[in-house]
Amino acid sequence: MQQGEMLYEGKAKQVFLTDDPDMILIHYKDAATAFNNIKKATIENKGVLNNRISTLIFEYLNKQGIKTHYVKTLNDRDQLCRRVRIIPLEVIVRNVIAGSMAQRLGIEEGTKPSNVIFDICYKNDELGDPLINDHHAVALGVVTYDELKQIYAMTARINEVLKELFAKMNINLIDFKIEFGRTSDGEIVLADEVSPDTCRLWDMATNEKLDKDRFRRDLGKVREAYEEILARLEKVIK
Ligand code: C5P
Repeated sequence: MQQGEMLYEGKAKQVFLTDDPDMILIHYKDAATAFNNIKKATIENKGVLNNRISTLIFEYLNKQGIKTHYVKTLNDRDQLCRRVRIIPLEVIVRNVIAGSMAQRLGIEEGTKPSNVIFDICYKNDELGDPLINDHHAVALGVVTYDELKQIYAMTARINEVLKELFAKMNINLIDFKIEFGRTSDGEIVLADEVSPDTCRLWDMATNEKLDKDRFRRDLGKVREAYEEILARLEKVIK
């Protein structure tokens, strides 16, 4: 496999073309950003940790029959993935209220709702990824109602699988964000990454935060938290 030109540079990753038109290479960087790029830093080795964590999680999801873009991991920082056109929606699952929803609705962080909550945001940096609803998404032309139904069904299944996996690690999966893409043959698959950058992960015994909130909220020991997630993941997956 030959690495080609860079297709796209995101905040935490770079995407490269390869000599196979259906495959891309995703490179994980050490950059950390928060609050729509207002807060920036480099967290040494984060790219390596997130590549490894996301690899283990995607391999696990693939084994559970969930369709993803993931093909294989090439080295410490690079993954080979199916090339997809990303659907510009951030799908957020909330098992416990935290972060923006706690703030927006004045609910105490850590409150467990009676039902699991799905949010969708329109992926658009200039607009700050605004929260939208199904009708907005369809009106924006980014998905059909049928595709949304399929995305929500996949999201519910991913949540069940991930909640159980993290529970085995003594981690409470509070919330997470996922993205979907369309393959060249029109199939909708899970894309992007699943890592402590995109999930809230609290230790079950102590409620200690082991995710990107350590960076967002200046709690310190960011890398150590990511290392802890990887260590626990390797224990339950091997
Ligand atoms: O910001 P908010 O509290 O709504 O985030 C909910 C979840 O989605 C968190 O786990 C957060 O890390 C993730 N998220 C993300 N990328 C965004 C927005 C939220 O990974 N752009």
